[in-house]
Amino acid sequence: LKVVTQIADLEHSGQVVGFVPTMGALHEGHLSLMRKARTESDCVVASLFVNPTQFGKNEDFDKYPRHFDRDADLAASVGVDVLFAPSVQEVYPRTSSVVHVPEVTSRWEGAHRPGHFDGVSTVVCKLLNIVRPTKAYFGLKDFQQCRVIERMVEDLNMPVHLSFEETVREPDGLAMSSRNMYLSHEERQVAPLLHQQLLHLRTVARGGHSLKAHLEAGHKLLVQAGFVPDYLALVRWEDLSPIDRAEQRSALIVAARLGKTRLIDNLLIY
Ligand code: PAF
Repeated sequence: LKVVTQIADLEHSGQVVGFVPTMGALHEGHLSLMRKARTESDCVVASLFVNPTQFGKNEDFDKYPRHFDRDADLAASVGVDVLFAPSVQEVYPRTSSVVHVPEVTSRWEGAHRPGHFDGVSTVVCKLLNIVRPTKAYFGLKDFQQCRVIERMVEDLNMPVHLSFEETVREPDGLAMSSRNMYLSHEERQVAPLLHQQLLHLRTVARGGHSLKAHLEAGHKLLVQAGFVPDYLALVRWEDLSPIDRAEQRSALIVAARLGKTRLIDNLLIY
């Protein structure tokens, strides 16, 4: 594994480069993206950068877990060739131009985390321009983020292929996330209810039924279990608009706080 911290030290060859951007605190979800990239690329590049511009003022930028040595070992263990781990100064030497993706950023995470997606699209655009990969890999756990990046790449004619990979889960169904480590023992016991609710709602949706009453009941159930839900909805992939009955390319999405931890999850219907 070669660790690179300066943009100028990233070499480019004629090879197929697979790229996995991360904020570190690597878990099996990240590693599965890296393994996939490994099978499809000559050179696998991962980035480790906790991007300040995608965190809100009252969010967890300062306490976001940072374990560089552990992450570097894990990346090496799944065959990553180059780990790009720049400083904030290297990525943002001055006030940056901003990439704003319209429409698909207005709802859900975009509404609950103002400015978040501008931070994501800007840093992903910069990282793609820096690394210039053939193909970039993202986890579907961040469902809306995947759509936002897809839209940016389409709108700006960016020369990269995108690969969105299935969410990796704990044995009890909880979607893997670096933020799961914030959960108390008690909260960790309750957290899989999010996935269970999505599974139940998917069964209803696949039956062709209207989801309205079921989404309301699901919301109530989450509140009773101690969650503070931001949203629970069935949406179209294309524009992330809420719908009442399942269609091709639709998904159930949920975001809820449990104590101090904000969790998100989703499930594709088909
Ligand atoms: O999904 C993440 O970890 C981040 O949003 C990303 C894509 C690495 C951009 O900072």
